[in-house]
Amino acid sequence: MVLTNGIAAMNEVPKKVTVTEVGTRDGFQAEAQFIPTETKIRLINELIAAGVPRLEFSSFVSPRAIPQLADVVEVLEGVKRESGSTLAALVPNERGAARAAAAGVDEMVTFVSASESHNLKNVNRTIGESLKGFDEVARIASIDGVRVHGAIATAFGCPFEGDVPVASLERIARHYRDLGFVGISLGDTTGMATPLLVQRAVRHLRDTLPDLHVTLHFHNTRGVGLANVMAGLNEGIDGYEASFAGIGGCPFAPGATGNICTEDLVYLLHEMGIETGIDLERLCAIARDVETVVGRTLPGQLMKAGHRLQLHALEEVATAEG
Ligand code: COA
Ligand code: ZN
Repeated sequence: MVLTNGIAAMNEVPKKVTVTEVGTRDGFQAEAQFIPTETKIRLINELIAAGVPRLEFSSFVSPRAIPQLADVVEVLEGVKRESGSTLAALVPNERGAARAAAAGVDEMVTFVSASESHNLKNVNRTIGESLKGFDEVARIASIDGVRVHGAIATAFGCPFEGDVPVASLERIARHYRDLGFVGISLGDTTGMATPLLVQRAVRHLRDTLPDLHVTLHFHNTRGVGLANVMAGLNEGIDGYEASFAGIGGCPFAPGATGNICTEDLVYLLHEMGIETGIDLERLCAIARDVETVVGRTLPGQLMKAGHRLQLHALEEVATAEG
């Protein structure tokens, strides 16, 4: 495959991809209404039953900052965990790590923005202060043997500062690598990524930190979310985060809208012959359930159109008369 600037792909497209569902975190944090705890538990259990291998199910953040996720402990207690799906949760600081370890998460996800102004808005710390706090997060996690994954928000552009230099990504990624984190994700918080920016960031990190496992988190704010996934696949990236029915968005970033949609992503991957282990029909049923839960039409497309080979009876459609 070739991208628009004519650079041929350097990596094989992966045969298997790990899809992380972030709908109950990135999605529900942006909802004006509080989604009841039992509804969150039901949806998470259905996602696990549909074969979703990893879920970023909630956040151990301040309940004053994100009241929608204040029930993170109760949600985790209600989830059936025998299936082997990884249950990950965001932690912004040491306090979050201690709470997450006590609750028994499989994985903590630290997060810091690549731009100072968004990090200050989001967690009230400079980038340097956030990174320093993660040393303690790593220590707390290691006591309980909990894996830590590091997320970088506003990785492809900041709504306050504009373009983000790849050196800013490298600085944070290097810190995460040095702390022994299992991988990092580049988050496109407000949908500013484009395929060439994805290619540039991934290649820079591969050149400078070749052992680091990099995954991608896109929002479809400007309609190029799945095009960005194609750019990532072209670079051999085998992990993507997405939100059921395409809901989502950061409350501390102007203009933030939905994540790429999980069912649409899984459809694309399956049609490319890439394995996910996910039952797509069950996923579409969950997405329709999410529309009912939030009480409005959501951006997901496959749940409305059905699979391309879901054919229709001829007599369903009127014949045009000229
Ligand atoms: N979990 C629960 N409570 C926490 C906490 C955590 N991880 N971190 C801090 N707090 C509590 C403190 O105990 C304190 O409570 P008190 O006033 O009752 O004593 C209060 O929050 C303020 O603590 P402080 O350390 O001064 O935090 P802050 O006001 O500077 O806020 C964050 C920092 C990170 C806690 C807050 O900005 C936050 O939770 N942001 C979340 C952002 C987010 O999730 N964005 C979307 C994802 S991209
Ligand atoms: Zn996001």
